[in-house]
Amino acid sequence: NNLQKELCKLSEKALPDQRDLVRKEMHGFANLFERFLKEEGPSVEWERIEKLPEDAVRNYKTLETPTTDLIQMMLQKLVVVKLNGGLGTSMGCHGPKSVITVRNDLTFLDLTVQQIEHLNKTYNTNVPLVLMNSFNTDEDTEKIVRKYKNLQIEIYTFNQSCYPRVNRENLLPIAKSYDVDNELEAWYPPGHGDFYKSFQNSGFLSKFIKEGREYCFISNIDNLGATVDLNILNMLLNPKEQTAHEFVMEVTDKTKADVKGGTLIQYENKLRLLEIAQVPSEHVDEFKSVKKFKFFNTNNIWAKLDAIERVLNEDTLNMEIIVNNKTIKHKGNNLNVIQLETAVGAAMKVFNDAIGINVPRSRFLPVKKTSDLLLVMSNLYSLKNGSLVMSPQRMFPTTPLVKLGDNNFSKVKDFLMRFANIPDLIELDHLTVSGDVTFGRSVSLKGTVIIIANHGERIDIPSGACLENKIVSGNLRI
Ligand code: UTP
Repeated sequence: NNLQKELCKLSEKALPDQRDLVRKEMHGFANLFERFLKEEGPSVEWERIEKLPEDAVRNYKTLETPTTDLIQMMLQKLVVVKLNGGLGTSMGCHGPKSVITVRNDLTFLDLTVQQIEHLNKTYNTNVPLVLMNSFNTDEDTEKIVRKYKNLQIEIYTFNQSCYPRVNRENLLPIAKSYDVDNELEAWYPPGHGDFYKSFQNSGFLSKFIKEGREYCFISNIDNLGATVDLNILNMLLNPKEQTAHEFVMEVTDKTKADVKGGTLIQYENKLRLLEIAQVPSEHVDEFKSVKKFKFFNTNNIWAKLDAIERVLNEDTLNMEIIVNNKTIKHKGNNLNVIQLETAVGAAMKVFNDAIGINVPRSRFLPVKKTSDLLLVMSNLYSLKNGSLVMSPQRMFPTTPLVKLGDNNFSKVKDFLMRFANIPDLIELDHLTVSGDVTFGRSVSLKGTVIIIANHGERIDIPSGACLENKIVSGNLRI
């Protein structure tokens, strides 16, 4: 009750033109918080996880390619959504992550726009791009989006919800007003699961349904492999059987490097996402094993628009709550807060005939660290109409495993300063770099290469060097 009162006060303090939306958001937050208080015990009982049914995950290779005359019609039914609420902080950048330059002076956003513009031009269609921003990213994104206005692409933006952080001691919001800009640390964007409700609150959900659009394709803006796939869209719009899949999660084969990603499980006769946060500690090893849980979620999601509307109106969208305990600086003091979040894939269980599709690894090309950036900037890929395509010169389709030392390489600015240009990685399997290391021009790295400069040492790899299955350590200055 105290929380309700506080939330009412906060909504009243919002500017008049914001008040209606703020009320809706606070209502969404109150529901989430009430569920958090009521729910006891784990969201998944380990023993009740069932074996995935045979037809739960379809192999991408079995999908048919649509004929060209169908494609235009299909694309008229599609909306592309990019999750753009996140910042580039983990790579040492200010502002939205989507404005980090990834390749050929183009940012994540530029590449996405190029991809969709290319689709629209090729098939003479008007697939819209919708960006879900957060209060952290909207201002910068709006400025940048203007530069695309003369292209053959309609871009729409809306803001996801802005929820109040709650003091862990008294369970009350720490915000004193709805002046988010002046009290930034008191608010947070509640994860990408917030997409559904915010999309509806923005009015876009009903707008696109009215226009005759049927599916949305949602993905992380930093996944460069998340392009519009016509075979999947064809499966959804022209199904062979009479089943209209309301929800598709693209999954891919889990490797030992992907131990943390969410996986697909069958539970209470439905497919659902299982995230590591939901796994009891005694089962974490089992969860990470590649044997029992073979797939992981790429966060490329296809969802039927009218089904989203239905589950929202029926209020059945009870996605698992991710409790994020944080310690923040508030008025000069450390304060323990709770923020409740949800993930977009967690909605899977409420849709009818949800299905997984086992897609090639190339559809999962996320850039989370500068080691990922090294790969996508290199000659392992070439750029084709905004999409990255792996070089045919690479003998095997896996990407090299790259570890770059945190101190010298984790920020994009530092990382870029350490390479005169990006080395040739075509034949690279493993690269580990640690310490004060720089690379000259036209360096080639092949096989397994380990370069370690200990404290007080520096290694400059000279221009033109070719390192093949080499360990370099000690001082090497040029
Ligand atoms: P993150 O980069 O934060 O998550 O967001 P992650 O490490 O990939 O893990 P998952 O996918 O959450 O499991 C992924 C995408 O979601 C957006 C980010 O901008 C990024 O594109 N996002 C995240 C939002 O739009 N809103 C949020 O509240 C959180």
